[in-house]
Amino acid sequence: MTENFKSDVIKGLSGLPKSLPSKYFYDEEGSRIFQEIMNLPEYYLSQCENEIFEHQGLDIIRAFVNGAPRIRIIDLGAGDGIKTKLLIEACYKLGIEPVYTPIDISAEAIRVVRENMKDEFPELEIDAVCADYYQALDQLENSEDEMPKLILFLGSNIGNYSDAGSILFLKELSSRCHIQDALLVGFDLKKDPRVILAAYNDSQKVTKRFNLNLLQRMNRELGADFNDEKFDHYENYDPIEGSAKSYIISNCDQLVRFKEIDQEFQFTQGESVYVEMSRKYDFDDIAHFANMTGFDQPRHFTDRKIYFSDSLFKKIGLRK
Ligand code: AVJ
Repeated sequence: MTENFKSDVIKGLSGLPKSLPSKYFYDEEGSRIFQEIMNLPEYYLSQCENEIFEHQGLDIIRAFVNGAPRIRIIDLGAGDGIKTKLLIEACYKLGIEPVYTPIDISAEAIRVVRENMKDEFPELEIDAVCADYYQALDQLENSEDEMPKLILFLGSNIGNYSDAGSILFLKELSSRCHIQDALLVGFDLKKDPRVILAAYNDSQKVTKRFNLNLLQRMNRELGADFNDEKFDHYENYDPIEGSAKSYIISNCDQLVRFKEIDQEFQFTQGESVYVEMSRKYDFDDIAHFANMTGFDQPRHFTDRKIYFSDSLFKKIGLRK
């Protein structure tokens, strides 16, 4: 893990323009700050997805289940599992017994989500897998499971991928799905660009802290000497492309040393480091993904404002 971080950092900061992969936001501190982001008034994504599951959780489960008494809910990057609780509740209401499989690369995340779920549903069978997504799904595929799988990829986590990357990822998932399985993918939809920009440029500057934690992480893990005060966060949203992009900007000319790897990097005043893309979609984009990856036309579950869609992808051939 640290090895990849090291080589990705060297690669990213040696490049022109400089960049760093957004997956490295989520160390312990970063995951904590992301929880704060999810509670921000401007960060509508989590509010919308909660609304969708509260009002349509039953419909989602009904649209997926074909009379199966038990289903397996596989949660890719489960986080705290708060939203997933609503779907599990929906299963019980429909007399379906869920088995819950959170998948996360972080053992700590698994521990937390397991505890949260146990508190809420003492009877729930939990089958956690601590591994990367593909490994975990391969493992499940080999387990000769009879239960239909509902694979969750929520919160517009897909938005961090390029469209080509999303298609590759969905193909990998599709190839691991049987005919009775389905994906539920959270997509943040295109909308008033000011609403989107505000979600990534919050007034309390939590997003700035979230971004600059990446510098702190390099200090902690790679012995770098980044000074937070000499950097800022810059956000941009392009409404045509539907891409929100985050950058870390250097406030002055400066040299940053990495003790552990015996390297230094020069930053000029105003230079940007590209750290994250959060893609926004329309329904055609989502339909295109389905077409390209072996799924039927997805069914969309949206909030009242139509800000966000949880779209159900079923394998081609299975029609209601
Ligand atoms: C976790 C990738 C869905 O892109 O909206 C939130 C991460 N970055 N604020 C997003 C994030 C800045 C988030 N995802």
